[in-house]
Amino acid sequence: MNKNWRYSVLGAGALMLLVFGSTMYLLTKRQDAMLRQQEYDQASAVFDVIIIARTWNSRFGGVYVEKKPGLVSSPYLAHPDIRTAAGKAYTLKTPATMTREMSEISHARDGVSFRITSRKPFNPDNAPDPWEDESLTAFERGEKERTTVATRGGKRVFRLMKPLHIDATCLPCHAVQGYKLGEVRGGISVDLPFDEHWELLRKNALYMAGLALLLTALFAGTLYAVIWTLLEKLSRQNALLSDLNHTKDRFLGMAAHDLRNPLAVIYGIAKVLKEDSAGKPHAGLADIVVASAQRMLGLITDLLDVSKINAGRLDLKIADVCVPAFVAEAVHAQTFLAEPKGIAVAADIAPGVGNAAFDPDRMRQVLDNLISNALKFSNPGTRVTVGARRDGPELRLWVQDEGIGISDEDLPKLFGEFSKTRSAPTAGEPSHGLGLAITKRLVELHGGRIEVASLPGKGTCFTVILPQ
Ligand code: HEC
Repeated sequence: MNKNWRYSVLGAGALMLLVFGSTMYLLTKRQDAMLRQQEYDQASAVFDVIIIARTWNSRFGGVYVEKKPGLVSSPYLAHPDIRTAAGKAYTLKTPATMTREMSEISHARDGVSFRITSRKPFNPDNAPDPWEDESLTAFERGEKERTTVATRGGKRVFRLMKPLHIDATCLPCHAVQGYKLGEVRGGISVDLPFDEHWELLRKNALYMAGLALLLTALFAGTLYAVIWTLLEKLSRQNALLSDLNHTKDRFLGMAAHDLRNPLAVIYGIAKVLKEDSAGKPHAGLADIVVASAQRMLGLITDLLDVSKINAGRLDLKIADVCVPAFVAEAVHAQTFLAEPKGIAVAADIAPGVGNAAFDPDRMRQVLDNLISNALKFSNPGTRVTVGARRDGPELRLWVQDEGIGISDEDLPKLFGEFSKTRSAPTAGEPSHGLGLAITKRLVELHGGRIEVASLPGKGTCFTVILPQ
C-alpha cells in the first residue's frame, strides 16, 4: 500500500488549518471592529449629552447655585459670588466646573468619566495629557475626532475626544485670552471602561482558535478514515484478484499437464500407424492425426511454460555455452523446415564471440521460436540470417528475415499472450500467439531484453540482448 497518501492528508489538513484559521482570524477582527464601534457610539452619546448641558449653562453665562456651607467658589472668576437682598449667598458655576462635577457623578455611577482640557488653560488642572495634547493639535489642523484604547490605572479604557469651539456664549468669559469665534478652545475626552470587552475579545479569539483546530482535526480525521477504509478494501480486492489469478494459473498448469501425457501416447501411436499405413488407401488420414497431435503437443507445452513462468516456477540452468556452436546448431535444426519453403537459413557470427552464460535449453527455445517465426512470414527465395555478436558487456543474438514485415500498429501487440497480428503466415502455418510472449519472458528471466525493428515489405529483425 502506498504510504504517501498520509502526507497528502497532512497537506490537506495544513491547508484546512490555514483556511479555518484565517476565517476565524477575520471573524475575530470583525468582532473587534464591531465592539469598538459600540464603544464609539456610547462615548459619542455621552459627549453629546455633555455638550447639550454645557450649551444650556453657557447660554446663561454660567448658572448660579446656592452657596451652601462647604461649597468653594471658582478661583478663576473675578466675582464668583453674589448675595441677595434677603442675605442668601449664590456662587457661579461655569460650564467647565459643571462638566467636571458631572464627570464625578458619572464616574461614581458607571465608571464613565470625561475631562475638559485646553492647551491654554485657565485652570492648570485642565492641561491635556500627551494623547489629549496630540489630539488637540490634530483638531487645530481640522480633524473632527480621535479615538484610542489606552491603559489607565491598570485598566483598559476606550477614549474618544472631540474639540470645543468658541461660540458667542463663550466670549464673555474667554475673550480675555484672545479667542475668536469658531476657534478651537479645547476639547472633551470621554473614557469608557474597556476591560470587559477586551476580555470578551480575548476569550473569543481563543475560542475561535480552538474551533479552527477542532474543525481541522475533524476534517483530517474523517479524510484519513475514509482513505484508509478505501485502501483496505482495495488491498483486500487485490489479494482476492491475485488469488484468483493463481488459481487460474494452477488450473491451466494442471489441465495442460494432464492433457500432455495421453496426447503424447496418441502422437506416438499415430506415428507408428503412419509408418504402417504407407502406401495404403488411408495413409493420408494418419498423416493428419500425426500433424494435429504434434500441433496440440506444441500448444500444451507452451501453455505449461506460460503457467510455470507466471507462477515463478521456471528455474534457469545457466551454463557456459560456446555461442558459435550453439547458433550453428539452431540454424541447422531449422533448415529442414526452411528447405521445403525455398528459404535459406544462414548463420552470421562475428569473430571473437566466444562463450557466454545462459540456459542453453531455454535460449534454444527462444532462437527456435524466432527462426520458425521468421520462416512463417517469409516468401520463397528469401533468406533468414541468424547472428551473434558482442556489444560491450552484452551478447546480442539476432534473427533477420526478408519477409512481409510487421506494421507499426501490430508492433506493440507483438509480445502479448494470445495476441495475433493481422499478417498471416505465408504458407498458412498454425500459430496460437503464445510463442513471442514466452520468448520475451524467457529473455527477461535472463535479465535481458528483446528488441524488434521492422520495415513492412522489407523484413523484420528481432534482437535478443543478454547482459553478461
Ligand atoms: C461664565 C464664564 C464662562 C463661560 C460662559 C464659558 N467658560 Fe469656559 N471656563 C471658564 C472658567 C472660569 C474656566 C476655568 C475654570 C475651571 O476649570 O473651573 C473655564 C474653562 C474652560 C475650558 C478648560 C480649560 C481651561 O481654560 O481651564 C474650556 C475648554 C472652556 N472653558 C471652553 C469654553 C467654551 C467652548 C465655552 C463656550 C461654549 C465656555 N468655555 C464658556 C469660564 C467660562
